Amino acid sequence: MDLFEVIHARQSIRLYTEQSIEDEKLQRILQAAADAPSAGNRQAYEIYLVRDLALRQELARAAGDQEFLAQAPVVLVFCTYPARNAERYAKRGATLYAVQDAAIACSFAMLAAAAQGLGSVWVGAFDEQEVSRILGLPPDQRPVSMLPVGYPGETPDRRARRPVLDLVHLAG
Ligand SMILES: Cc1cc2nc3c(=O)[nH]c(=O)nc-3n(C[C@H](O)[C@H](O)[C@H](O)COP(=O)(O)O)c2cc1C
Repeated sequence: MDLFEVIHARQSIRLYTEQSIEDEKLQRILQAAADAPSAGNRQAYEIYLVRDLALRQELARAAGDQEFLAQAPVVLVFCTYPARNAERYAKRGATLYAVQDAAIACSFAMLAAAAQGLGSVWVGAFDEQEVSRILGLPPDQRPVSMLPVGYPGETPDRRARRPVLDLVHLAG
């Protein structure tokens, strides 16, 4: 698949088969995340790889019983780590760039999953304090997205988008 086919192929998957993910595929997903751009190349985020079933079940609870988090063989948790860019960017780095860094890394991971026939879904609705507790995160790291990854067990209908002409504004 070329890039545009991958972008089109990616859809939120909320049902997974029991098939585990090959290590090489997972490695490529993680490398894609690491290849994402970040403010000043500081990479002000950390990624937690969760395979353990009991932990995934706890994450599912912390996300309001989004059971597919427990079903997918792997969950990647993207956390901001503003200490990495604080020296250079201070408040804007901590409140904005670190979140953007983590979000871009998560987006790249999603596309790398789709490119390899894997499904994922961005999970943003969860109790941050609970997820931090479950993963034992240091206090200066904030979980911002969780990404269950696995082989798709569903083929959802494509969700419609606003027309490009509706969301793009010619300025000036
Ligand atoms: C910031 C953000 C938070 C999201 N949180 C959740 C979530 O908690 N649970 C969920 O099932 N989907 C979540 N999604 C996925 C969206 O619902 C999904 O991307 C959207 O409906 C478009 O569908 P598509 O990804 O299949 O194109 C989230 C997506 C984003 C970008």
